[in-house]
Amino acid sequence: MCILDLIWINLSMLAAEYKAVNLGQGFPDFSPPQFITEAFCKAVSGGPPMHQYTRAFGHPALVQSLAKFFSRIVGHDIDPFEDILVTVGAYQALFCAFQALIDEGDEVIIVEPFFDCYQPMVVMAGGKAVYVPLRPKEGTAVLSSGDWVLSAEELASKITPHTKAIVINTPNNPLGKVYKREELQMIADLCIKHDLLCFSDEVYEWLTYDGAKHVKIASLPGMWERTVTIGSGGKTFSATGWKVGWAMGSGHILKYMKTIHQNSIYHCATAAQEAVAQGFEREHELFGTPQSYFQQLPAMLHHRREKLASSLKGVGLQPIMPEGGYFMITDISSIGESVDFKDSDTKDENYDFRFVKWLIKEKGLATIPVSAFYSPEHSKEFDKYIRFCFVKENSTLDAAEEILKKWSQNESSH
Ligand SMILES: Cc1ncc(COP(=O)(O)O)c(C=O)c1O
Ligand SMILES: *[C@@H]1O[C@H](CO)[C@@H](O)[C@H](O)[C@H]1NC(C)=O
Ligand SMILES: *[C@@H]1O[C@H](CO)[C@@H](O)[C@H](O)[C@H]1NC(C)=O
Repeated sequence: MCILDLIWINLSMLAAEYKAVNLGQGFPDFSPPQFITEAFCKAVSGGPPMHQYTRAFGHPALVQSLAKFFSRIVGHDIDPFEDILVTVGAYQALFCAFQALIDEGDEVIIVEPFFDCYQPMVVMAGGKAVYVPLRPKEGTAVLSSGDWVLSAEELASKITPHTKAIVINTPNNPLGKVYKREELQMIADLCIKHDLLCFSDEVYEWLTYDGAKHVKIASLPGMWERTVTIGSGGKTFSATGWKVGWAMGSGHILKYMKTIHQNSIYHCATAAQEAVAQGFEREHELFGTPQSYFQQLPAMLHHRREKLASSLKGVGLQPIMPEGGYFMITDISSIGESVDFKDSDTKDENYDFRFVKWLIKEKGLATIPVSAFYSPEHSKEFDKYIRFCFVKENSTLDAAEEILKKWSQNESSH
């Protein structure tokens, strides 16, 4: 786990050192919407309480606005004070879920590719991570993240008497898969049959494209009681540096997570919580209208997604179109053959890691190797893809396109 984490940090450093155009890490390089930055300013200038401690398990204004907003979506009356825990980003919500609910010897099934912190978090809690990969459908051209599927048989075969939870992420990072209702129902049926918890990481819930619809597994019958849903104010309002996140679920589960939170973080920054609360109040009012940021952001990103995809296609790379989220992956095996990596010291590394380093150093473009989102036992099988983040300014995407174009012109002139 440490080796993987170091590589992650090394890639960021390498990108900075070579001043690479950065389509690596998942954060917007554009400003958050004005209403949310104004809400933050208003909070900061809003008098003494905004600068002091607030309620440990979540600023009252925030848990109330989250409960109001999500009750309508989950189809269940969410109790703001029992069923929600506000955390330092979705990251800490995940950490609390694993620490609180996974015990020594418990097995946790993680669907691959997965956000890389799940595995170390399971291990830190004393649990064992068990992996099931999404696989590209066989016999068809794989053009969309929807062509990557989870086998019900394979998932069921991983369940043992020690299994405690299944972790899913929809829309998925890095693939962009948005699980369909039937797929979630299959997972839900297994959770119910084997009395398992489900940790559902939904930080990209508003970002779906081409009519894909995000469904909360907690909204399926019998799932509210056994699901911890994780969300992110940073991803929701394009302000990832604020680090306001939450876990939502039945109070009888959340109470264990609250104990972990109380004895590690205690509570989160007040003004940022107030601003996110105001953001959700606004979105509650405007829900389903064209003024809603939850419509505007995906509309804008849909365009950025098209732009990146056409840059990739322009140089002969076939993107796997994401149905949701911040990222797009592409198969690099076709161009890889013509690349001379030069550094002999990286020979033992996965192909995509070598490719990504080479791309930063030689071409000045930073991306992320997709095998980093797989377990050691499956990573070699999935080391021919790289991930691009498209939550970027037009100018950043233009700069990336320039690099790709020059490179491919160069290639063809040899
Ligand atoms: C799938 C997933 N979960 C959680 C997080 C962390 O979110 P936050 O910034 O709110 O901690 C990220 C951030 O990239 C993510 O991609
Ligand atoms: C990005 O480009 C698109 C299409 O050219 C345009 O509609 C959009 O306004 C641009 N966005 C910004 C922030 O310049
Ligand atoms: C083009 O190829 C030459 C010779 O291989 C190389 O030195 C140069 O860096 C390449 N330029 C780009 C933009 O890839």
